[in-house]
Amino acid sequence: MMNIKDWLSAPRTVCGIMTGTSLDGIDVAVARFSDFDGKHQYELIDYYTFDFPAELKSLAMRIIHEQIHISEFSEFSYLLARAYTDSVKQLIAKSKIDLKIDAIGVHGQTLWHRGEPTRGAIYTHPASLQAISFSAMAKWLEIPVVGNFREADTALGGHGAPLVPIFDYEFFRSTEENIICLNIGGISNITILPKNCTLTDLQAFDTGPGNVLIDNTMNILFDLSYDRSGQIAETGIISSELTNELKSNRFISQKPPKSTGREMFTLDYTKDLINKYSYKIQKEDFITTFTNFTALSIAENIKLFSMPADRIICSGGGANNKYLMKKLKEMIPACELVKSDVYNLPGDSKEAVCFAYLAYRTLGGLPGNIPSVTGATKETILGVIAV
Ligand SMILES: Nc1ncnc2c1ncn2[C@@H]1O[C@H](COP(=O)(O)OP(=O)(O)O)[C@@H](O)[C@H]1O
Ligand SMILES: [Mg+2]
Repeated sequence: MMNIKDWLSAPRTVCGIMTGTSLDGIDVAVARFSDFDGKHQYELIDYYTFDFPAELKSLAMRIIHEQIHISEFSEFSYLLARAYTDSVKQLIAKSKIDLKIDAIGVHGQTLWHRGEPTRGAIYTHPASLQAISFSAMAKWLEIPVVGNFREADTALGGHGAPLVPIFDYEFFRSTEENIICLNIGGISNITILPKNCTLTDLQAFDTGPGNVLIDNTMNILFDLSYDRSGQIAETGIISSELTNELKSNRFISQKPPKSTGREMFTLDYTKDLINKYSYKIQKEDFITTFTNFTALSIAENIKLFSMPADRIICSGGGANNKYLMKKLKEMIPACELVKSDVYNLPGDSKEAVCFAYLAYRTLGGLPGNIPSVTGATKETILGVIAV
């Protein structure tokens, strides 16, 4: 075990693992972080997205959408730890360079997220649950693992989300431009970084759906998991009636801080919409309309809550959806839309690198949340270290 006191005194190689709400893959990234008198640098060393084992995906979906026995939930944490462990081993084996990993940061699988306290519930704080037995991983890999990042923030009254903004602030803020970092995962979120901003000027929140409505519909109507490059969206027509119904979701124009999860855009919710409109619109039109609405909800949040941005740095799987990106560009024509890849950070690796960075901060004794962003009463070191 390394001496944590000296953690920041040398560059550290940290692995980050992310499985988001899309349940599409296990993103594993290895990055080297260095501290120069409090100013941090990252260098991406390697990353790969491993398949999310099919049986684990269906178990996660059942836990999220159905009533299951507690034993299945308990086993899920270990099974996911096994899948994460195998992924790390495979990445080390595949890597061209000799990878010596100092620590791992794991997000775990969100099975429940409620940024606001549940009305009428006994527990009056926000609550968020990420399943993963990171202690098992630490034993199997013999590498310290940091996990459970969100709980410290929710305990202090925060949403426990978003946690990526500290990474965006450290590495993407600019003295010349107003920047927005946009991640389009299952859910979309933005970090707003005004020119010359300090931590307290920064805003970050979920804007609403990312790929979740598109993926749900691809699943229900096309028996596919996603709309590759937005090809199907390209072929349909936008339904203004369905768009209007989607726009009535209060989350979209709700003032930040705000966060959401799959709970708001479930398969049942999507099925109900499809049933309601399928007598008048075509299969493809659902994909086109949901994709357009996804762009609209991102653009609307930017218009309502952000300064005029010079540049939007995009990441997450949705950045690969050409129709979605085209619509977004049309809706906010004044700003430049670039992928995070131009910053040596491939869009699919970003969140994994962020959780590696959060682990780096935790081991260095540095706070990881931003109270003005999450709503927590104060900043705090995040996570639990398993050795
Ligand atoms: N080439 C692509 N074309 C269109 N959509 C894509 C592509 N690659 C990934 N996606 C979308 O991105 C989603 C995964 O994004 P990701 O950032 O991993 O989200 P999460 O963090 O929720 O797992 C997929 O489910 C899919 O909808
Ligand atoms: Mg993913």
